[in-house]
Amino acid sequence: MRPFVVAANWKMHKSPAETGAFFEAFLPKLEASGIAKDPAFRKVLFFVPALDLYVAQKLVKGSHVCVGAQNVYWETKGAFTGENSPAVLAELATPYALVGHSERRALFGETDDQTAKKVKALHAVGITPMLCVGETLEEREGGRTNEVIVRQLQAGLAERDATKRIIVAYEPVWAIGTGKVATPDQAGEAHAVLRKALATLGSAALADATPILYGGSVKPENSAEIARQKDIDGFLVGGASLEVDSFLALCQTAKA
Ligand code: PGA
Repeated sequence: MRPFVVAANWKMHKSPAETGAFFEAFLPKLEASGIAKDPAFRKVLFFVPALDLYVAQKLVKGSHVCVGAQNVYWETKGAFTGENSPAVLAELATPYALVGHSERRALFGETDDQTAKKVKALHAVGITPMLCVGETLEEREGGRTNEVIVRQLQAGLAERDATKRIIVAYEPVWAIGTGKVATPDQAGEAHAVLRKALATLGSAALADATPILYGGSVKPENSAEIARQKDIDGFLVGGASLEVDSFLALCQTAKA
């Protein structure tokens, strides 16, 4: 059975001190709720800014929460000013990293080829990539949603180590940070397309084992309806992950 994954993407929010205050309040509440007790069934992840990783990692030690990186470079070391080494992320015991988030693609020019290199580099050091895919409004209105997300998925998987795990996040670009959430039907359809593509590009076993998360304006008020879709295995959450109570509520969303 695939785990239900609730992942926070803090983007460029929270200092080390704010990270400390968040986890001090959040972790006791999460443990008290009992929902994360079986990490094989429900995973709670935080993609924190690189400068908060070290501190966050110490704070969550011994809890049911994992901390991951928002970005990684594909070389291990060298003259790459400002980049994050996959080897250093591994040394920090970071089990997950985002790849190909639409903000990286749109604002920093990350290409499909680069996502492939990042997935390969993460697998080489034992980190699970969460590959983000999603269409723009123009692509959706032009009827190109399926073509775009399958292309991004195929590119991202091209150099992976097929013996290692990946997570996929479907995030329609027009729904990110806009308050416009995809309808359950729109999200459900895209997830079904991605699940089928995983089987075609990899295997039935890959399609069955890979969690596909939905992201884009997920909030406690809309999460239950989204989670009801058959192929939706969790959420990737920006804005609503920054407050303890709203993110805790999302972690408690029932998967019908
Ligand atoms: P949002 O961001 O929840 O604020 O829309 C989601 C994301 O970018 O991962």
